[in-house]
Order: sequence, then structure tokens, then C-alpha cells
Amino acid sequence: MKVAVYPGSFDPVTNGHLDIIERSSKVCDKVVVGVLNNSNKTPLFDASERVDMLKDVTSHLPNVEVDSFSGLLVDFAASHGAKVIVKGLRTVADFEYEFQMALLNKTLNQEIETMFMMTNSKYSYISSSMVKELAGFNGDLTGLVPAQIINKIKEKYTG
Ligand code: PNS
Repeated sequence: MKVAVYPGSFDPVTNGHLDIIERSSKVCDKVVVGVLNNSNKTPLFDASERVDMLKDVTSHLPNVEVDSFSGLLVDFAASHGAKVIVKGLRTVADFEYEFQMALLNKTLNQEIETMFMMTNSKYSYISSSMVKELAGFNGDLTGLVPAQIINKIKEKYTG
């Protein structure tokens, strides 16, 4: 069984993330979405909220699972029997960081390959940080994030 891990902060999940999850679920037997639970950062949503939102927006995909992790990505991937890490690439600006990460992860575990998927062009400008900035100004999030989570994001800013 070809298992892939799709890791990220997902704070919050965007339509760009969901597009990569949907497309990778078509080419892999199973996709495990790995939500980074990083205590060094103060996220807008805690890890369990992010996991719940991802479970909600991927509920139509039977071969997608969602889990959180706090250690090394390669160890998380190995614990799920995944030999592939899927990453999305939006712009050239993403490339350098992702290239370094892929090489580092390869030295940490030679059995695991990083595979890149180009973003759907209609989502190439979307990032979780842009979504948060826009939400902070009460901007319209329609089309940027899955419809089910728009109110959850708004609630974080309206209290
Ligand atoms: O959505 P993000 O914040 O760009 O995702 C970054 C992520 C989670 C893919 C990256 O930070 C990561 O892999 N973190 C786990 C720690 C790790 O394995 N780092 C690489 C070796 S130091």
C-alpha cells in the first residue's frame, strides 16, 4: 500500500491545501495529513482544532486520515508506514526552503522520498498567513478556505 504524508501547520487549512490533499488522494492508496503541533509557535487554532477542521473538510475522502505530530516529520511518516512526503509548491519563493527540507529529510531517512505537487494556479496566491491577515480586517474569505470553516476563523477575531 502506497501511503503518503502531507504535513503542515494548517493554521488554518486553505483551499490550496485541500486541493493538494484531494489530488494526492487520487494517486496514493492512503494520505495521512500531519498537523504540526509546534509548542514554539502560538497558532490561531490549537492542534486539536486544526485536526478537527481538517477531518471535517476531508470527510468526503475515504482514504485520507488526519493526525497531529510534534517530533521529526520523517519519524511521523515512518510511524504511519509512509514512504512518501507530499509537499505543495506555489511559487519559486517556496522552492528554496522546500528543496533544503527535502534534502535534510532525505539524510534523516533515506527510505522516504519527498514528492512535490504544483499548486492549482487558482490557489497559488493563498496562504494561511494571508487568510489570517484578511480575517483580521474582517475581509471576505469566500473561495480562500473551505466554506465550513469560515465562521470558525471569524469567531477567533470577534471573540
Ligand atoms: O505549513 P508549514 O508551517 O510550512 O509546514 C512546515 C512543516 C510542518 C512541514 C515543517 O515545519 C516540518 O516538517 N516540521 C517538523 C520538524 C522537522 O522534521 N523538521 C525538519 C528537520 S529539522
